[in-house]
Amino acid sequence: MRNMVRSQLMLAAALLLAGGVCFAQSSGEALYKSKCQMCHGARGLAETPAAKAMKVKPVTDPEVKKFTEAQMIDAVRNGMGKMQPYKGKLTDAQIKESVDFFRTFLK
Ligand code: HEC
Repeated sequence: MRNMVRSQLMLAAALLLAGGVCFAQSSGEALYKSKCQMCHGARGLAETPAAKAMKVKPVTDPEVKKFTEAQMIDAVRNGMGKMQPYKGKLTDAQIKESVDFFRTFLK
């Protein structure tokens, strides 16, 4: 009996943990979709009309692949080319989350 209670507690803890991880991932994704996708495309391929007009490079471009995470965070924080600076509009944590999501397209 005691064992059963314990395993149910473990299960509850595992579910809570999984929920937390899931939330962290989807907030970067939600940010990307609302703030970045119109220029960088759903998969970072810069296939949207806005991307073409602003000459956004796709994630398949070697120039983009060379970027480190820190350089990307910098580009988003301070702006790059026609991309506005997000400093003051998004928190540093939000910038990192959206860049992290963007980086999942780099493979
Ligand atoms: C108005 C269009 C626009 C929006 C919105 C936008 N970007 Fe950009 N982004 C650009 C342009 C233009 C560049 C510079 C040209 C290039 O090299 O792709 C750029 C460059 C970058 C780079 C540097 C690497 C690269 O692809 O050249 C990163 C990383 C990046 N953007 C991430 C983001 C993230 C994350 C967001 C959302 C918070 C975002 N961008 C929103 C247009 C945009």
